Amino acid sequence: MGMATEANGDKKLRTDCSTVGEVIREERVYPSEEFRASSWISSREQYDEMYRRSVDDPDAFWEKEAEQFFWKTKWDNSDGKMHSENFDLRKGPITIEWFKGGKTNICYNALDRHVKAGKGDAIAMYWEGNELEQNKKLSYKEVLDNVCQLSNFLRSVGVKKGDLVAVYLPMLAELPIAMLACARIGAIHTVIFGGFSAEALAQRLLASGAKVLITTSGYRRGHKVIRMKQIVEEALSRLLEEEGHSIETCLTLANDSAVKRQDVPWTARRDVWWQDVVPRYPTVSHLEWLDAEDPLFLLYTSGSTGTPKGIVHTTGGYMVYTAATFKYTFDYHEGEVYWCTADCGWITGHSYLTYGPFLNAATVLVFEGIPTYPNPNRWWDVIDKYNVNIFYTAPTAVRSLMRFGDAPVKAHHLKSLRLLGSVGEPINTNAWRWLHEVVGNGRCPIVDTWWQTETGGFLITPLPGAWSLKPGSATLPFFGVQPAIIDPEGNELSGEATGALCLKGSWPGVCRTILGDHERYEMAYFGHFKGYYFSGDGCRRDEDGYYWLTGRVDDVINVSGHRIGTAEVESALVSYPMCAEAAVVGYDHQVKGQGIYAFVALKDNTRNFDEIRQALITTVREQIGTFAAPDKIHFAPSLPKTTSGKIVRRILRKIAAKELDDLGDISTLANPEVVDQIIALTGN
Ligand code: WT7
Repeated sequence: MGMATEANGDKKLRTDCSTVGEVIREERVYPSEEFRASSWISSREQYDEMYRRSVDDPDAFWEKEAEQFFWKTKWDNSDGKMHSENFDLRKGPITIEWFKGGKTNICYNALDRHVKAGKGDAIAMYWEGNELEQNKKLSYKEVLDNVCQLSNFLRSVGVKKGDLVAVYLPMLAELPIAMLACARIGAIHTVIFGGFSAEALAQRLLASGAKVLITTSGYRRGHKVIRMKQIVEEALSRLLEEEGHSIETCLTLANDSAVKRQDVPWTARRDVWWQDVVPRYPTVSHLEWLDAEDPLFLLYTSGSTGTPKGIVHTTGGYMVYTAATFKYTFDYHEGEVYWCTADCGWITGHSYLTYGPFLNAATVLVFEGIPTYPNPNRWWDVIDKYNVNIFYTAPTAVRSLMRFGDAPVKAHHLKSLRLLGSVGEPINTNAWRWLHEVVGNGRCPIVDTWWQTETGGFLITPLPGAWSLKPGSATLPFFGVQPAIIDPEGNELSGEATGALCLKGSWPGVCRTILGDHERYEMAYFGHFKGYYFSGDGCRRDEDGYYWLTGRVDDVINVSGHRIGTAEVESALVSYPMCAEAAVVGYDHQVKGQGIYAFVALKDNTRNFDEIRQALITTVREQIGTFAAPDKIHFAPSLPKTTSGKIVRRILRKIAAKELDDLGDISTLANPEVVDQIIALTGN
């Protein structure tokens, strides 16, 4: 892939974004005295003091956080330093190391440590299935037993430290179990979101080099039955035929209530039923002690250009960081029931459904279903059924449930709720207020957590007992995090400012590289503004130092909290034989936050547009997944380009937003006349 385009290319950063949707009315929401008094960080003064220490002496601060964990060997600080970093390309390659030389195991710290401390009977996981009658609960001891059996199985098929294991599962209890089993033996897990198509799955399997895959026969999602093993079969035969890459072992969980064993495609020798083999293994399994900087997992995410990036997180820093952010941000106290609605196919399911909570001996609710099945009461039923105390979700889901009005919520007690959380995109003030007033009954603070796949954990987030909230603002940086607002010329701005959101200096949870392409990592995150990590987001810092995220300033679209690279959708569209060229931009969408708007020029314009539109959507579904299908397809005679032939998305973005008076200078285009032609075709 082209390195230069990642850092500069034709993509002028947009730092002028206004806050999504509505005008911000400044308003403050304070935690109750009761909430404040019982919280870990209970005043702004306490935070200020800790924050200062975390920035002045990060080693001392994070060493203290790390001490609660078991380390087989302590990290090396013989030279007086526990961490080292170079964040500045002018000084050489980007390198980040925390707790180097320290030997630990995150699975041990998430499970064995609690069982040894007498918490084996505490509930680790409540699982609620898609269907009303499906549920189970697992104690810490039971999760540990399951993890050990699976890790022994993985060893028996040859998985060793450093090997990649791919996991393609819906939100079954076995998904976090599979992640922890890999971590136990030092295998690197790569979870592939269940919504990805066969082709997208094959692409990730190939790129990661995984030889073992864990999946299921199928599952139900709402009313739909998804034949997962069938999708896997397509992906694997394609991989073998086109790339000569084979998966040696495909461990398949029989999920008979959705798809029965006899109804799945099967390849003898390669395929094994989980239930036939895993329970035969012992419930003790020795641990692989890993260096703090050994990789823990790989997770693919979309960038502004090229194929998905395989983000690599390592063991020690990620462990300490996810544990600390979970504890302080959710103000977690043992015994509380915590529900995160995210899927383990995304980073939230790694850091705040699996590792962060289990490291804190939390009780986690894992829900397989969707908020509207069998009816829009489901979420509220689940909260009351399990007496959920902390509820972490996404603005898009909140908006979709707001459409059913207050009645379904009001028909429930929801008295157990103490704290609410939001992630994935800026939360618009309407959704914030509804969550606060209707769901939280005005009683529960909302932690609006800003972070990314690459950051491992929260960077800007309220500490809910420590300061007041402003609806729509992620508020202040977490310990050790130093945000910087930068103008397009690369100057760091002080005080009240709007610009590109960057970070100065590392924090333990930041990703260390992109699998197999460190140069791409350097260019994507450290190539824009020398000496800073660039997030890709725009941001405003207000007079109180609160941060307001304004959305991506690069060519990444955030659809329902799913990150989608415009380049990936475009490449799927142009693979359709009749498509001459395609450009994709985001536009404001009532429920999804952003929708996908595709401009498509066909090779031959006399065809049936409706049919082609359908075919284009099918193509994207097949190549990426249903969630990436364009919401609108706008046919155009051709696309506006610079004289050097680059598509000018800035103009297309304005047309998609119907901001036709504000197109800017189009006279420098190679083909200015197409702009009027495209506008004339609006609504086509
Ligand atoms: C992008 C990262 C982090 C887990 C979920 C998505 C947007 C995320 C917020 C928030 C404003 C947010 C940003 C970011 N984003 N949380 N609280 N307020 N924007 O992870 O797929 O890596 O996407 O999501 O644009 O860059 P991801």
